Amino acid sequence: HSKSPKLHGHWIAKHSAHGLYTAIETPPGAFPQTVQILKKMGFAGVNVTLPHKEIALHRADTATDTARSIGAANTLRFLSTGDIHADNTDAYGFIENLYQSAPQWDPTQGPALVLGAGGAARAVLYALLQAKVPHIYLANRTADKAQTLADFFGDMVTVIPWNDRAKAPQPIHTLVNTTSLGMTGHADLHMDLRGLADHALVTDIVYTPLKTELLHNAEQQGYTTVDGLGMLLHQAIPGSKAWFGTDPIVDDDLRQIVLE
Ligand code: ATR
Repeated sequence: HSKSPKLHGHWIAKHSAHGLYTAIETPPGAFPQTVQILKKMGFAGVNVTLPHKEIALHRADTATDTARSIGAANTLRFLSTGDIHADNTDAYGFIENLYQSAPQWDPTQGPALVLGAGGAARAVLYALLQAKVPHIYLANRTADKAQTLADFFGDMVTVIPWNDRAKAPQPIHTLVNTTSLGMTGHADLHMDLRGLADHALVTDIVYTPLKTELLHNAEQQGYTTVDGLGMLLHQAIPGSKAWFGTDPIVDDDLRQIVLE
């Protein structure tokens, strides 16, 4: 179901680059062998998605600080030295999407509330801390998972109970849903938005549907909203640059093509 072949295919054609981007399924146990074969075949690198992101980092020869801090890699480059270099561009994709889609948003102006503690939440927390949010509240149905994640990032992250997610101790400036709630076929995220600051930004990493119930409600209440498709598009930029030598941008044309 990956949208990435369409996305990279568009950039390859637009920039007249020579290349091919294709989706390959590999069982978890075969991941290291698959990567070695692709390397031998002359691929420039790969994107890695669930459930391979952690092993991708651990099997790489070198990695960026970002990938190490997040503990997972989504972008591998096969270097001419024979080494495999790992990066994680999810945090970049998340934050660049917000900067491009909500240029007036200033993450430093107040605390953020992040819902969910899965793999995506880790990249989101990293990105928000890099963007200098003053504090992050984290709520997850399974409190232990939230605490483990919070402990990893230190005292900048405070866990609040899932059932009290609308009652963060301070007005929330940035609200991020990283849970699967709101996704087509899943339950909705029921979230009271009265704890948000005026002019708060609300974003969802779910992009099917594009306008989740959370984003719909936030928009109705006058908040700035950013959908999750942009994160997917922006996270692909560093890979396209590295593998195909393009200098791609995310625009409405690209959104339409990927959505078709
Ligand atoms: P990953 O991002 O690593 O794939 P996941 O297992 O798909 O993670 O889960 C994503 C997030 O959605 C998790 O935070 C999960 O909460 P739990 O840690 O408690 O499982 C959250 N989530 C999924 N279904 C949920 C539900 N019905 N209510 C509340 N949170 C839910």
